Amino acid sequence: MKIKLHKLTICFILAVGFLFLSSSDAAVSENEWEKIAAINKKGPYLGIVVPNNFEMSPLLQSPSFVPLKALPYFDFAGKRFRFGKVENESVIVVLTGLSMLNAGITTQLLVTLFNIKGILHFGIAGNANSELQIGDVTIPRYWAHTGLWNWQRFGDGTDDELALECHGDYTREIGFLNFSDFNIDDNLLNRVWFQPEEVFPIDGNPEIRQHAFWIPVNNRYFSLAKNLEGLELGACVYNTTCLPRRPKVIRVERGISSNTFVDNAAYRKFLNSKFNATAIDMESAAVGLVCLQQRIPFVTIRAISDLAGGGDSSMSNEANSFAPLAANNAVDVLTAFISLLKHEYDGDASFGSNQLKRFSPQQHCTFAFPQNPSGCMDLDLI
Ligand SMILES: *[C@@H]1O[C@H](CO)[C@@H](O)[C@H](O)[C@H]1NC(C)=O
Ligand SMILES: *[C@@H]1O[C@H](CO)[C@@H](O)[C@H](O)[C@H]1NC(C)=O
Ligand SMILES: *[C@@H]1O[C@H](CO)[C@@H](O)[C@H](O)[C@H]1NC(C)=O
Ligand SMILES: *[C@@H]1O[C@H](CO)[C@@H](O)[C@H](O)[C@H]1NC(C)=O
Repeated sequence: MKIKLHKLTICFILAVGFLFLSSSDAAVSENEWEKIAAINKKGPYLGIVVPNNFEMSPLLQSPSFVPLKALPYFDFAGKRFRFGKVENESVIVVLTGLSMLNAGITTQLLVTLFNIKGILHFGIAGNANSELQIGDVTIPRYWAHTGLWNWQRFGDGTDDELALECHGDYTREIGFLNFSDFNIDDNLLNRVWFQPEEVFPIDGNPEIRQHAFWIPVNNRYFSLAKNLEGLELGACVYNTTCLPRRPKVIRVERGISSNTFVDNAAYRKFLNSKFNATAIDMESAAVGLVCLQQRIPFVTIRAISDLAGGGDSSMSNEANSFAPLAANNAVDVLTAFISLLKHEYDGDASFGSNQLKRFSPQQHCTFAFPQNPSGCMDLDLI
């Protein structure tokens, strides 16, 4: 048994070859490969990718998460990969840290090292869609990275060629943000043109770039997520501060990500009118871009914690108050989704949304509206 595993390890090392290895002090040690190979034999796994600790904690504390006793986690390259089950489905949970770079690196490591059949990404998000409320949980069909720009020099107009545009590096197809639209007097910032990412898919030619802007989530995951739409979610922070209406799970068309915490009403409005964005975050498109290139199915569950600058200007960003509620709601939806997936894998066609009622919200309270409007937040929360 031991020898067999050892052989497998050697094969794996040879296969990965140039990536990591040159000698005995390779980046991935033989001992580490043995652990990875043993874990992978028990796969495939659902990969659960989460940005921050306050978003991950409710999952780790949830009764549906059961850590793997024999090997609860494995630390590698500054990341901790946690093994266990959620709703009896084998998962690997990993925390990325803030931002696109961290999310991309971590997702790539996860799918490179482990036997992953799909990626579920979850967390909180800002909201640019005035039809939704804080606490609602969104599942966008498409994601885009809207932080890759070509910033024009002052004086150039929309018909002037962008730097390196003729080489195909940059495009005018997606459009731009005109800073002067937001300033009464002329300013020197001119405009920025949104750019698609260069992608190098696993089944393409290395070093031959393709371009991608909108990244679709997996169709099957997105269809399955429809069954989550009746799920009951927590509506209150403590027992006193309740949202105007009970939050809902909703599939939406678009979410966008960039390395920017958006807390600005004008930019929020622009992002909604230009891109039809609902959820605004700092990681989902990075996870999606890695999954797109590695051909791994993915979906994102993002609970709204704030209005991305569109709220009452006398208040600080609503995430100060609502991030914990949103994080709990995101975990409730994630675990319900895993349960749906599990039953689908197991071919249990009779399992539907009504079975999900057993997922009760983690924060209970007497619903304060409309019976007791004074118990509601004195805030415009949409
Ligand atoms: C969990 O799944 C295993 C098979 O993978 C099965 O034997 C066991 O009964 C399941 N447990 C529950 C609580 O569904
Ligand atoms: C940019 O904004 C300025 C000020 O609103 C406007 O005069 C100009 O026409 C805009 N340019 C484009 C291309 O939209
Ligand atoms: C909220 O209400 C529940 C049930 O009424 C109670 O058990 C719990 O202690 C309360 N929590 C807080 C923070 O007041
Ligand atoms: C814009 O997004 C909303 C919310 O997801 C969706 O209902 C609507 O169909 C979208 N509009 C377009 C033109 O895609």
